[in-house]
Amino acid sequence: MAGNWKMHKNISETTAYFEKFLPLVSESKHCQIVACPPFVNLPAAVDAVKSSRVEIGGQNCFWPNEGAYTGEVSATMLKAAGAKWVIIGHSERRQYFGETDETVLKRTVAALEAGVNPIVCVGERLEERESGRTNEVLETQFRNGIAGLSPEQFSRIVIAYEPVWAIGTGKTATPEIAADAHRALRDAVRGKFGSEAGNSVRILYGGSVKPDNVKSLMAQPEVDGALVGGACLQPESFASIVNF
Ligand code: PGA
Repeated sequence: MAGNWKMHKNISETTAYFEKFLPLVSESKHCQIVACPPFVNLPAAVDAVKSSRVEIGGQNCFWPNEGAYTGEVSATMLKAAGAKWVIIGHSERRQYFGETDETVLKRTVAALEAGVNPIVCVGERLEERESGRTNEVLETQFRNGIAGLSPEQFSRIVIAYEPVWAIGTGKTATPEIAADAHRALRDAVRGKFGSEAGNSVRILYGGSVKPDNVKSLMAQPEVDGALVGGACLQPESFASIVNF
């Protein structure tokens, strides 16, 4: 269960968040728990969770380790800050910051080389779903992006299926829609990396996951977890998602 804080919370709010959140999930052993705050909050977040099972992630990384790239943060910097995870290719990055499947692949490789686990996002836009192109879009994002990993690299990533029309809109995909898309992704993975990889790759669903819909989504065998935006910002709400 991963929380994507997006551009929310400052350092003191980060510390206060974990003070409330950690006791609420201290008994939760059934899943990994990941929180992805903005970069500047990573040290505070890593420090706050150090005696818990909660792990911290970044929301993006650039592929060189260092250099003249104003405003960017490398995967090795995330690693050094104590991040274990990084979200890559979120639709907001694709939509507002020009990310493509090709840059998603480069970032993913950089994260893996740095020893940070990537959560790689894919998902169709509303017009693509309405024109019946969902599976084609997902296959293309897979083929042009993470299909370029080696089998060993691929075995270390988590995929997040996030239909763009469901993100921040309150419109959750039905469990059946989520499961269908996850199946299409697993088929694409099988085609490239073999049936074992297709069965075992972990695929999170993201897009308006809330305490009251997480159970039905998680009831789908195809759905391995959730990437949560808005509903992870309140500790109580993210804890009830974790403890679904
Ligand atoms: P949401 O965001 O839960 O607010 O829809 C999910 C995401 O963008 O990861």
